[in-house]
Amino acid sequence: MQRDNIIEIIEELAQVIPPAPSAMTLPPRCYSDAAWLERERELIFQDSWVTVGRKERWQKTGDFVALDIAGVPTVMIRDKSGAVRAYANSCRHRGMKLLQGQGRCKVVVCPFHGWTYDLEGALISAPRMETCEQLDTERLGLVEFRLETHDGFVFVCMDPDQVSLEEWLGDFSDLHAPWMLEKLVSTRVREFEVGCNWKSFIEVFNEYYHLPYVHPDSITGYYREPDAADIVIGEYTTQFGVTDGTAALLEDSRQHALPAAPGLTGRNATGTRYTWIYPNLTFAACFDSLWMYQAYPVTVDRCHVVQTICFPQASLEMPNFEARAEAYCQRIDTALEEDLPFLEAQQQGLASPFARQGRFSALEPSVANFACWYADKMSTSE
Ligand code: FES
Ligand SMILES: [Fe+2]
Repeated sequence: MQRDNIIEIIEELAQVIPPAPSAMTLPPRCYSDAAWLERERELIFQDSWVTVGRKERWQKTGDFVALDIAGVPTVMIRDKSGAVRAYANSCRHRGMKLLQGQGRCKVVVCPFHGWTYDLEGALISAPRMETCEQLDTERLGLVEFRLETHDGFVFVCMDPDQVSLEEWLGDFSDLHAPWMLEKLVSTRVREFEVGCNWKSFIEVFNEYYHLPYVHPDSITGYYREPDAADIVIGEYTTQFGVTDGTAALLEDSRQHALPAAPGLTGRNATGTRYTWIYPNLTFAACFDSLWMYQAYPVTVDRCHVVQTICFPQASLEMPNFEARAEAYCQRIDTALEEDLPFLEAQQQGLASPFARQGRFSALEPSVANFACWYADKMSTSE
């Protein structure tokens, strides 16, 4: 039965055909079928370059962040040489999850029976294992994944055969060069869970269609009609739109506006670029700040979200920066709070056996582009 479902969903995915104006939306069961999530784990999250955060989260030796990447406990740790490494967060003794949350450590000690690994992943101590025959500690180091950093974002890939991150991102760096993403500094990181599918969470940040309905009194007023989505090479989609003043502050806190990032000129200094690096990172590059979201599936109807807010270094040095940054955080949190009930209600609607595929408006080109990318990845025959 489950297999029949999957075949049916793949047939529906055949309707998600580029170009975006002729595509149908993703089949509702892609957002609600638990067996389908298993398929996503394998074909999306264990196959792609997945974003795990901004590089500033690993500033000192031993800094770590643990994240479950679609059911794969993973931990990123800064080693003694200053490189960040990604490991399967599973002890080599009997599988215990080694680290939780974030923090700093000198070595990684398993809380279950004390096996200890250095920051480079080698097993350096295994208490009371003397009677174990031919214990080859060299072969009991942590399982390591590929990790690369680009434009200040850290990515992990579990597939040794996937193309390089450089190739994955295509012309991303050229197109985003004016925003000097590498040089931004993150000042606040928050993690939380939301009762919706991970794709819905990212989709809502990449479309202008909902603004007057969901944000009528907060942010909709300063967004102008956006440009078409850019034609790009690489595993991402992006769309620029002019705004009246910064899009990163509420109307009544514009007195806190920070200047445009040094070097940003012309139209780029008058709007916001919304970008989605597939599968799970989206950010809004405003001329004065950037906010980003990483989303990871917990269950088919629940996701874990990491929210990060960044500013150019020059702004951090301005008078009253903290108070001004607080106003930026308020804008982002206000819009998020407005989106959440809609995302949860959308999840309920999508879970209905009578939910059907729909069509995209011209204000959702990035969502449509993602749908086409996703349909292609998920239609691979088993
Ligand atoms: S599971 Fe880690 S030491 Fe036993
Ligand atoms: Fe929104």
